[in-house]
Amino acid sequence: MNTYDQIQSAVAAVRERTSIQPKVGIILGSGLGAFADSLENKVAIAYSDIPNFPTSSVAGHAGRLVIGTLAGAPIVAMQGRVHMYEGYTPQEVAFPARVLCSLGIDSLVVTNAAGGINGSFKAGDLMLIADHVNLSGRNPLVGPNDDRLGPRFPDMSTAYDPELCEILRKTAAKLETPLQEGVYVWLSGPTYETPAEIRMLRTLGIDAVGMSTVPETIVANHMGVRVAGISCITNLAAGISKVPLSHAEVSETANRVRDRFTNLLAHFLPAIAQVPRRAK
Ligand code: HPA
Repeated sequence: MNTYDQIQSAVAAVRERTSIQPKVGIILGSGLGAFADSLENKVAIAYSDIPNFPTSSVAGHAGRLVIGTLAGAPIVAMQGRVHMYEGYTPQEVAFPARVLCSLGIDSLVVTNAAGGINGSFKAGDLMLIADHVNLSGRNPLVGPNDDRLGPRFPDMSTAYDPELCEILRKTAAKLETPLQEGVYVWLSGPTYETPAEIRMLRTLGIDAVGMSTVPETIVANHMGVRVAGISCITNLAAGISKVPLSHAEVSETANRVRDRFTNLLAHFLPAIAQVPRRAK
C-alpha cells in the first residue's frame, strides 16, 4: 500500500470512532501529554488501534490519539510521538502528522522538550519556535512525491506560520505567561549533544536543541497546513548545564511547567480554530 492509501485507511479508522471533525491538531511531546486529558467530549484511540500508526516505546509517551473539544473548538491531540532514534524512518515518524492533516485540520501545533542553548534561557522556560534548522541529515519528503499530498519542492519560508505566531505571542501576553522565542534544531539523537556540538550550534544562531518536531512540521507544510511550535526548555544544553543531562531531568521539568503550559494551550488552541489553511 502506498503512503496515500495508508493515510486514508488510518483516517477511516479514526472517523469510525468519532464524528468530531478537528480543526486544530496538537502533538504533545515528552512529559507534556497531560493537556489531552482536559479535552471535553473526548474519545481516546490507542495508536495500536489505528492502521499503520507507529507505536512509541519511550517512557513519558502514552501513545493515544485524543479527539474532543476545547471551549467549543474541535481538537485532535497526539499524546506522545515516535522518534527517529527509535529506529523509525523520517516518513514513519511524520505519518501521524499526515493523518491529522488528512482529518482536515487547518493548523498543527507541535510541542517538544528541548535543551536551552541561548544564554538567556532557564530550565522551565517556554519558547515559541520561530524557525528551525534541520541538522539530522534526513527529511520525510525524500522519495517519490505524491502530488495529492503536496508539491515536490515545498516552500519553507513561513514554516512556523507568522499569523499563528502572532496569536501565540498575544495569548501568552494576555495570560502573563513569559514566552521566549528562538530557533530549534533537529538532531537525530539519542545521545545528548557534546559541549563542542553545543558551542557549534550556538555559533550557528540556534537557541534550542531537540530530537523531534521537524519531520512533522515539514509534512504539515507540504500539505498546506499551518504550523505553530512551542518548546519546553527542560534543561540547559550540555556544557552550559553544570550537571550531566538525563531523561529524568527532562521529565521533571516538563512536569513542573505542566500547568503553565496546559493553560497556554487551553487559550491558544481555541484562538486559532477559525484560522483557515493557507491559500494554495
Ligand atoms: N538535547 C537534545 N534533546 C533534548 C534535550 C537536549 O538537551 N533536552 C530535551 N530534549
